[in-house]
Amino acid sequence: MKGRPPIDDGDAEVIAAIQARPPYRAIDRAFVARVLTFVSRPGMKAEDRVRATRARLHQTVGAYRGSARILEDAIVAIEDAARANDPSAVDAACRAAMRWHASTRERLPTIDTFLTWALPAGERVGSIVDVGCGLNPLWLGLRPRRGGPRYRAIEVDDAIGRAVARVLTALGVDATISGEDVTAPNWSVGPEIDVLLLMKVLPNLEQVESGAGTRVLRANRARRTIVTFPGRSLGGSAKGMFRTYDAWFRRAAEGMDGSIETRTIGEELCFRIDAPTREGG
Ligand SMILES: C[S@@+](CC[C@H](N)C(=O)[O-])C[C@H]1O[C@@H](n2cnc3c(N)ncnc32)[C@H](O)[C@@H]1O
Repeated sequence: MKGRPPIDDGDAEVIAAIQARPPYRAIDRAFVARVLTFVSRPGMKAEDRVRATRARLHQTVGAYRGSARILEDAIVAIEDAARANDPSAVDAACRAAMRWHASTRERLPTIDTFLTWALPAGERVGSIVDVGCGLNPLWLGLRPRRGGPRYRAIEVDDAIGRAVARVLTALGVDATISGEDVTAPNWSVGPEIDVLLLMKVLPNLEQVESGAGTRVLRANRARRTIVTFPGRSLGGSAKGMFRTYDAWFRRAAEGMDGSIETRTIGEELCFRIDAPTREGG
């Protein structure tokens, strides 16, 4: 972590204070520690470090979620529908649950158009990695596929991670869910995969550390990468966001191999990067 002080015993106390409140308790501790180092300045008082870290965690994680009770009820509804083996009830319950997280709620009116563009029916998809997934993996309840993809969902908010794990188990998806912080210096997607989803997440990573979004984008070895950006801030302002994100993405993706297709779908700016086909593949 360039130029940043290591975590010491004092930091452990500050981290415990940050995580003493419920919304912060569910966030991956290593991620909390990282955010703490980035917001800390020499001579800062412990209570100011707690406040500044919580503010940044709210901005990048907490601001998107609803109440735990509502999420629980929504997940139980999906589990009941899956147990009853009723695909249209599963579809309806997954759409209803997606309203809980601001990112999927915004996408709901155009989610079918989005899925048809990003993952056309008939294409073979063996593996998907969904970074900063929120409740996005619930789209699998809208597109049941026999022998569907292996799904790796990554989310620093453990409350969301546990909910996603329950849904994917109920849907019978071969999935792993992890709370890893993808801004950690040596994070990479891992072995070759078919589809990497970086949906509305790169700006959050840049909020933690400038350059982290670019690093994650370029650490990928996927056959297809879907990158999206929100058209509005959580407060509702749309001022020039598409232009800003379009310019940011083109800078970050400069020199990357493959073809890039751009679409605006609903209120989301979307890029689909298809890697060059491998010889003999
Ligand atoms: C704007 S939301 C997008 C959610 C989802 N990708 C979608 O488009 O529906 C960003 C999500 O990334 C998660 N997140 C933020 N920073 C992260 C990090 N460093 N590592 C993994 N997940 C992160 C947040 O908790 C939040 O759920």
